[in-house]
Amino acid sequence: MEIKKVGIIGAGKMGSEIALYIAYHGFEVVLKDVYKENLEKGLTNITNFIQDRKNKGRMTGDEADKILSKVKATLDYKDVRDCDMIIESVKEDLDIKREVFYILDNICPENVIFASNTSAIPITKIAAAVKRKDKILGSHFFNPVFLSRLIEVVPISGTSSVTINTVTNFFTAGLKKKIVTSKDGAGFIVNRLLVPFLNEAIILLDEGIATKEEIDRAAQLGMGLPMGPLALMDNLGLDLCLKVADIVHDEYKNERYHAVETIRKMVKENKLGVKTGEGFFKYKTE
Ligand SMILES: NC(=O)c1ccc[n+]([C@@H]2O[C@H](COP(=O)([O-])OP(=O)(O)OC[C@H]3O[C@@H](n4cnc5c(N)ncnc54)[C@H](O)[C@@H]3O)[C@@H](O)[C@H]2O)c1
Repeated sequence: MEIKKVGIIGAGKMGSEIALYIAYHGFEVVLKDVYKENLEKGLTNITNFIQDRKNKGRMTGDEADKILSKVKATLDYKDVRDCDMIIESVKEDLDIKREVFYILDNICPENVIFASNTSAIPITKIAAAVKRKDKILGSHFFNPVFLSRLIEVVPISGTSSVTINTVTNFFTAGLKKKIVTSKDGAGFIVNRLLVPFLNEAIILLDEGIATKEEIDRAAQLGMGLPMGPLALMDNLGLDLCLKVADIVHDEYKNERYHAVETIRKMVKENKLGVKTGEGFFKYKTE
């Protein structure tokens, strides 16, 4: 089986970027949200990105039009039924994700492959909502989708080898991404590495060992990372970082994943990072 048309459920930060990335690589995309306002915001993200590329001379007008013509936006589930694969990218909430897949499972033909872009929720828990256990897996894209090279692929015990091969072939040959395959388990590979690391950066700051700038500089120059841990949390959103830490901690009940109080306090104060104008650092809001 070959993937030619992809449905994306959730037109937020990740959903809109994934839709754009897939259309950019020449595939048809149907982007669906529940809220008109969020769907429009997602489409604006896509057109702004394309416009920016055009302005910088990295893309011709024809190329831009061709990419945009591949993206269809909808509020109606019916429009994703004829996709070969559907990637769910709604809020990091098990009940909402299960509800989305329950609906999809009931309306989509049996051959359609389902994938979740969850950051940390075990795919087996999400897959409990569907009958097609052979055609569901995790496909964890990273932020920002255009710059990051990796997708984590997370099959569950029932995922067929045909599904795994079809999806990995699409990601590598079609989307030009690298993949790593992880067994199912909260946080998969990257977020299990990341949660203790990000926590430790906040502990260093809390203990006054170094300034926030020094901590990020140490990680960038000493560990060769493109961005320091505090700036990274600001970019990901502190609410998402906390949510991921809580999911991983709840699953493994291990102290090394226990989110420190500072991040909980900052989330309560709406200091979520770039999106609210303040996190560990301050940002200009539009
Ligand atoms: N933000 C990141 O850096 C990042 C990175 C990797 C993975 N993820 C994961 O990707 C997923 C989406 O994250 P995000 O940051 O894009 O979230 P977001 O809040 O920006 O977007 C979520 C979108 O889903 C929509 N939505 C909610 N319920 C829906 C439903 N029932 N049907 C259709 N649309 C619905 C919302 O209206 C919103 O537009 C999460 O599982 C998150 O953990 C996020």
